[in-house]
Amino acid sequence: MKILVTGGAGFIGSNFIYYMLKKHPAYKIVCLDKLTYAGNLENLKEAFENPNFSFEKGDIADAEKMDGLFGRERFDAVVNFAAESHVDRSISDPQVFLKTNILGTGVLMDACRKYSCRFHQVSTDEVYGDLPLDRKDLFFTENTPLKASSPYSASKASADLLVLAYHRTFGLEATISRCSNNYGPFQFPEKFIPLIISRAYEGKSVPVYGKGENVRDWLHVDDHCSAVDLILHKGKAGEVYNVGGHNERTNLEVVRTVLREMGKPEELISFVSDRPGHDLRYAINPSKIQNELGWNAVYDFDSGIKTTIEWYLNNMDWLKNITDGEYKNYYEKMYGGRG
Ligand code: NAD
Ligand code: DAU
Repeated sequence: MKILVTGGAGFIGSNFIYYMLKKHPAYKIVCLDKLTYAGNLENLKEAFENPNFSFEKGDIADAEKMDGLFGRERFDAVVNFAAESHVDRSISDPQVFLKTNILGTGVLMDACRKYSCRFHQVSTDEVYGDLPLDRKDLFFTENTPLKASSPYSASKASADLLVLAYHRTFGLEATISRCSNNYGPFQFPEKFIPLIISRAYEGKSVPVYGKGENVRDWLHVDDHCSAVDLILHKGKAGEVYNVGGHNERTNLEVVRTVLREMGKPEELISFVSDRPGHDLRYAINPSKIQNELGWNAVYDFDSGIKTTIEWYLNNMDWLKNITDGEYKNYYEKMYGGRG
């Protein structure tokens, strides 16, 4: 197979590329990425050593560029990770979320229609909105109504509706996965877990929104990658699959765990103003992907978070390259203005 992975220079996309190169050594993987602030080519340093991997800089919303790329490369499948992904940024500047997350998805699917290509949309549990904190018996299923809270999640929900419409109207061979919060290597340090690690390492305060009682359902990124791989090969067109491993934690529990593992004092916790519209609780019911495709999470949070902290502590140069902006020069260094 020849697979286009969009947004592959970001957190989950880069982990997915490594996962696929290892699991399917004969596959050809092309990464397309716009290299926004969240795209870091250094994440793919080792992938560049593999002759089955190549990189293309570009915007998924650029229809002409996509047409040229698809016409030239003739992909069998596209896995779309490309997105603006940070809720706080969608509150301060929503427009780019609409362009990339909605229009960009539409452009990619038009190219898939024209060049007969399978399409997988990497979506999120945030499209379901939130669950109350006092009803631990409630979980998101694939039939939970869409009720997005932030411009980010509304843009992802819009894209999901478009994907299902393209399947029904045009017969596009498309699937959707809706995963809970991921953690693991290469996550941009604006997100909660790498932010805690990075700030605590430097002895800086760690901001916790509101009272820290919001609940997230944490999944190791490798478990997300195995789910997407399985859906790509065995998923049924037109279907949505929820992905999660029953690892619910309050934000306060997460920050305390990370500080304890790092040997840092809880006095670093600083309660700050809450995120507007802050979703209370996410919790996934993964029965469908477990029963229909045989997927199961391998990691539990308590062991996964330890290896993740270790990874960041062993890769402080990677973090420093981001905090001092050096990572933005990586493309120039590799391609010297070409490409
Ligand atoms: P990320 O922000 O780390 O990476 C996004 C990547 O997309 C970056 O490399 C960026 O340069 C690229 N990109 C942005 N706009 C682009 C455009 N117009 N054209 C081409 N490339 C573009 O995000 P992530 O956390 O890796 O998330 C990847 C996907 O998974 C997103 O679609 C997100 O909605 C979804 N998701 C994320 C999580 C999570 O916990 N991080 C959970 C469930 C689903
Ligand atoms: O559920 C899947 C989603 O998970 C993905 O679709 C998103 O792309 C991804 O960013 C993530 O969204 P969250 O908003 O849950 O992740 P974030 O890391 O921003 O925040 C996790 C929780 O921690 C959330 O309740 C807000 C809180 N938080 C976050 C930051 C950055 C803090 O308390 N302090 C912080 O500084």
